[in-house]
Amino acid sequence: MTDPETTRRAWPRLHWQREFPYQWNADEAISRRELLNFAVYSSGALFAATAVLAGLGFIPRSSSGPGVEIARAADVPEGQAVYFHYPTSTLGDEAMLLHHPNGQFAAYNQTCTHLSCGVFYQPDQKRVFCPCHEGVFNPETGEPVAGPPQRRLTRITLRQQDGMIYATGWEL
Ligand code: FES
Repeated sequence: MTDPETTRRAWPRLHWQREFPYQWNADEAISRRELLNFAVYSSGALFAATAVLAGLGFIPRSSSGPGVEIARAADVPEGQAVYFHYPTSTLGDEAMLLHHPNGQFAAYNQTCTHLSCGVFYQPDQKRVFCPCHEGVFNPETGEPVAGPPQRRLTRITLRQQDGMIYATGWEL
């Protein structure tokens, strides 16, 4: 059998091969089996990493401390809303605290469950409204009542302590 290196040397060399000679002898050849092993193990590692991240997504985000301070209950008149950020001050974490006429409080993330526009409270119409496609949510439950949204708003759990209202996590 002819040595492959001898065969390669016998070929007429193209211009680029003369300019950029490849050192076949110095090359560590990778077998098909090694390549396949690498592909299988790296795919397995990617699958495992994705599974871990997906699992982390199901862990409810809640704080063990008192939570994030929103407002003093006395400073939010009945039928009014206070807008805040939760859990961080970044884009997408806009939230609203509603003080219902019955004295109860509720807080929601402001992201519409249809196509993620910002929703806001309209106390005079007793609704949470999304102007993008006229989605309407029940302010007491966060459930969609009109328009395209099919899922309720993400509700933030609250805790009151010494007259202060804190956001403590998400209601699943
Ligand atoms: S994004 Fe809110 S109704 Fe479409």
